[in-house]
Amino acid sequence: MNVQLIPLQSHGDSRGSLVSLETHKNIPFDIKRVYYIFDTEKNVERGFHAHKDLKQLAIVVSGSCRFRLDDGKERISVYLDNPSQGLYIDSCIWREMYDFSKDCVLVVLASNHYDEADYIRDYEQFTRYVDESSSK
Ligand code: TYD
Repeated sequence: MNVQLIPLQSHGDSRGSLVSLETHKNIPFDIKRVYYIFDTEKNVERGFHAHKDLKQLAIVVSGSCRFRLDDGKERISVYLDNPSQGLYIDSCIWREMYDFSKDCVLVVLASNHYDEADYIRDYEQFTRYVDESSSK
């Protein structure tokens, strides 16, 4: 599956820690958009979509949450609780986020601007899209 945990170097000293995110240095795409999710509830699940083209990198800068990731062939679960680690999610991966801690702040870097036309929000449609793409 085209997902990867990317270690983000933390420049720590007695004053605290600092992580820097730079296009094509530790982030494998041009960063066109950044958004963050916070004030989440423990029992709320989000996501439930895939992107045709968009690539993203998710960082939990505070608290923790879990991702369910599915490329149409396999399904994995990833636990994020470390601000020095980024979860890279390639295009065409179905994602669901859940088990948010109260203090979770999930920052997402994206390779493009917000575009509803790039979303696949129906799981059956997603598996059809994956099958059609792989038979091309
Ligand atoms: P939504 O896609 O439902 O979030 P999630 O994938 O976490 O479940 O997005 C919530 C709302 O925010 C929805 O109305 C679309 C809007 N939105 C933007 O305006 N810009 C963005 O970059 C994103 C990601 C969402």
